[in-house]
Amino acid sequence: MDARPNSPEARDISYHMHGYTNARKHEEAGPLVIEKGDGIYVEDLAGNRYIEAMAGLWSVAVGFSEKRLVDAAVRQMSRLPYYHDFGSKSHSPLIDLAEKLVQMAPVPMSKAYFTNSGSEANDTAMKMIWYRSNALGQPARKKIISRIRGYHGVTIASASLTGLPNNHTSFDLPIANVLHTSTPHHWREALPNESEGEFSSRLADDLEKLILAEGPETIAAFFGEPIMGAGGVIVPPAGYWEKIQAVLSKYDILLVADEVICGFGRTGEMFGSQTFGIRPDIMVLSKQISSSYLPISALLINEKVFEPIADESNRIGTFGHGFTGGGHPVAAAVALENLKLIEERDLVGNARTVGAHMQKRLRKLASHPLVGEVRGVGLIAAVELVGDKANKTPWETAGALGGLVNGFMQQNGVISRNMGDALAFCPPLIITEPQVDQVIDAFERSLEAAVKQVP
Ligand SMILES: Cc1ncc(COP(=O)(O)O)c(C=O)c1O
Repeated sequence: MDARPNSPEARDISYHMHGYTNARKHEEAGPLVIEKGDGIYVEDLAGNRYIEAMAGLWSVAVGFSEKRLVDAAVRQMSRLPYYHDFGSKSHSPLIDLAEKLVQMAPVPMSKAYFTNSGSEANDTAMKMIWYRSNALGQPARKKIISRIRGYHGVTIASASLTGLPNNHTSFDLPIANVLHTSTPHHWREALPNESEGEFSSRLADDLEKLILAEGPETIAAFFGEPIMGAGGVIVPPAGYWEKIQAVLSKYDILLVADEVICGFGRTGEMFGSQTFGIRPDIMVLSKQISSSYLPISALLINEKVFEPIADESNRIGTFGHGFTGGGHPVAAAVALENLKLIEERDLVGNARTVGAHMQKRLRKLASHPLVGEVRGVGLIAAVELVGDKANKTPWETAGALGGLVNGFMQQNGVISRNMGDALAFCPPLIITEPQVDQVIDAFERSLEAAVKQVP
């Protein structure tokens, strides 16, 4: 008989280990228990309402109370609650979604392959790339390049691709064959007086040097998010993607666009690849694909990727990879309805226009003494907070000011997220201009509260 304390908060501490949480601190601080959602708002157990300015985890495009997604789930649950795609089985939601995604892709794609999370999708991409190299008789071509501060997930391969210390330290990662190249963050990384174009050229040179040092015949692919999300919303400088792609094509290296955050409207285009002129061989999709009402992710692969894999599966007898829940019919039905809503309501256009308003208002804060940089595109942005503006250095320890302001945001009725000292904004795509104003008014109040504590 287990007689632990009875409040939801106490039971959370007793029974639940959290992701991305300091487990010891949590024992003292306890959880914020969210009970309900409605539009861009969520409500906690005590009845406090918050604007969810991170759309959950960068994902709830249509808001937290979309009945059409509920109805789509119920309809599919009643008709066929589960099926899979192993051994040539299929079902209508999966076929419809595969067709829809291939047709939506901004560059010619051949097939969609379904997984359950962004991490699984990136692991799958890496396995497909290795399988393809073997199929092409290039067994040495196994190394993958991603970027410092890139985020691709937390499973063993995807955490290795991720370029953030917390995802490696004490996990014995990254694994072999994963290399990291420089972060395209002009404000932080550029040399004195280096223009964005010059900085982009230097980063493309860094990449080429890495490829040559390792041996071009050993490099299989480059993974990148159009805009880095969890690394702090890093918007690439002018010319970056064009120059990186020139290097990749010179050495016949595949390009994987991790569109897990940018995909389905976030940047004011349907895909981040369109915003930055990226022509990927593989696209990794998740989050806003279903507004995260149910977990689902997908890879889009072009002919160059699919054809050798198909031949290899024929030689071996099967493509020995697949997930029980991959392309789950209920998640696929919800994703289809969600994509319909994004199109019908022109949420991509909303991200462009309301996003422009959000970017403009945030940029007005650039002269604030605690604001180092404001960056973003469409409905994704970050404000990097500093203790010393001239030297771009943190207040006290790195992340302390971000945590302080993030706490004030919550007190002011807005859920945001600080990645170190970068405070991120990534609201549902349905947000309106007056609602954006509420978020930024709360941010201004939070900054003023912080100023009182920062000498
Ligand atoms: C760009 C990107 N890729 C991959 C992932 C991993 O997705 P998941 O948490 O569903 O495994 C994330 C999650 O935030 C992400 O932002």
